[in-house]
Amino acid sequence: MSASTDARRVQIFDTTLRDGEQSPGISLNASEKLEIAHQLARLGVDVIEAGFPIASPGDFAAVQVIAREVRGPVVCGLARANAGDIDRCFEAIRDAERPRIHTFVSTSDIHIEHQLKASREDVKGLTRASVAQAKALVDDVEFSPMDATRADVGFTAEVLQIALDEGATVINVPDTVGYAMPLEYAAFLTRLYALVPDLRSATLSTHCHDDLGLAVANSFAGVQAGARQVECAINGIGERAGNASLEEIVMLLHVRGGHADGLHTGVETTELARASRLVSRLTGYVVQPNKAIVGRNAFAHESGIHQDGVLKDRSTFEIMDARTVGLETNALVLGKHSGRAALKAALEELGYAVEGQALNAAFTRFKDVADRKKSVSAMDLEALVTDELRTEHAGWTIEWFDVEASSRRPPHATVAVKGPDGDVTEGSFTGDGPVDAIFKALNAATGVDGRLREFRVDAVTGEADALGEVSVVLELGDPAAAVRNVTPGLLTGERVTGAGQAVATDIIAAAATAYARALSNAVSKATTLAAAPAVPALPSPTP
Ligand code: KIV
Ligand code: ZN
Repeated sequence: MSASTDARRVQIFDTTLRDGEQSPGISLNASEKLEIAHQLARLGVDVIEAGFPIASPGDFAAVQVIAREVRGPVVCGLARANAGDIDRCFEAIRDAERPRIHTFVSTSDIHIEHQLKASREDVKGLTRASVAQAKALVDDVEFSPMDATRADVGFTAEVLQIALDEGATVINVPDTVGYAMPLEYAAFLTRLYALVPDLRSATLSTHCHDDLGLAVANSFAGVQAGARQVECAINGIGERAGNASLEEIVMLLHVRGGHADGLHTGVETTELARASRLVSRLTGYVVQPNKAIVGRNAFAHESGIHQDGVLKDRSTFEIMDARTVGLETNALVLGKHSGRAALKAALEELGYAVEGQALNAAFTRFKDVADRKKSVSAMDLEALVTDELRTEHAGWTIEWFDVEASSRRPPHATVAVKGPDGDVTEGSFTGDGPVDAIFKALNAATGVDGRLREFRVDAVTGEADALGEVSVVLELGDPAAAVRNVTPGLLTGERVTGAGQAVATDIIAAAATAYARALSNAVSKATTLAAAPAVPALPSPTP
């Protein structure tokens, strides 16, 4: 049965690459976004919101390459309710197998008065014009009344009727500031159905933020009220506290959907853990150990009573099997005597088609690790391949470093980095600890004042010789000074952060690489902000 004919099927609309990418410190380049989009396709999501094409040339390029290369899901781009946004969005998604334009305008008086500085009539006009324009370009048009849950339901209903009259196929109801409670959100949707009977001919969608920790509960309440699309993001990333977490809503429907009249999704749940790890690595956003579904302790039993129960019968303390979400994929695959062909086959099994130069680079990296580790597991390989992908696109890369550590003298580090233009520069620093010394030496080598905000070391797997995975979040001390070749004045007062993550057998090497990536991300973000404010102020009240 196809999704559209199955009344209990809930479509999963993934916004990791759009709302998720708006999280502070995240700055993904086009090839990283493409890698995530391919994993989303493997996961079987119904819609990929690939980005906000008008926001920057980088966003446009990423949406376009995803539209051209990713097959399976609908590929959607976001556009404010104005002609320029919609044209640009169409240009980016037009080559998709199934393109969708998602346009939005606020219906709450708070937004209309204070942000749009417009009137309710203006909002109706913008809705009419923008949905009509989008519909002339593509069949599939989604409309969102932003901040709907704080808006007058009667006025929102009038706006939705206009969107439907102009041909919107999906109506999404955002709880933009994460203010609603589940019963309220469901009641809001029920009221909209009553006020706008035509809503039954469209797909109703939820888009819930997690400011009060209710994003998944609100989305589920929305589905129970009749919504058949849920907007969500891997690991729950997104503006502020984030969006509804994709893995949580999917597994909620998987485990409890039967108790909710058979609600279900088309997601291949065994790909969830891998999607989570990929997004975490590429964004630098660490997944908390106790995170539902994909946290490393999500299926761990600590207390004696729990362990005893699980040993006797897993159902005593487990409601899901870790294998269902793909968390137990750590079979040993390769050792130090494995050759290129074995590596290629193992990578293909993981879904990576690696040939030629890329295979040579992966093999060199694999050998380096296999010489130090007894065995290289599927999870190690996945971490290495993702790390290798990053290396190709990083701004600054580490050429070499020296760290002198002793209990009698303050540690001293010297590092050489290659910049995006190919120049190699060196920097040194005597710090409070070896990690502090190498981070400050990197500041000296790059000439950028990075200030560490978060630092975290994890092991990829549980063994004593596990690969180390380091995550760094830093803030630019002076974003304007970090930006080159663009007008720095535009950055006055901006706070710019960058996140980076890296994997290596040596923790100091991983830390240095993660810091260099975080610096590169922060500077690239500052450059985008300086060149063109990422989200140009407001939709103009008249289209
Ligand atoms: O949170 C929100 O309202 C949004 C819209 C653009 C759908 O992200
Ligand atoms: Zn949002």
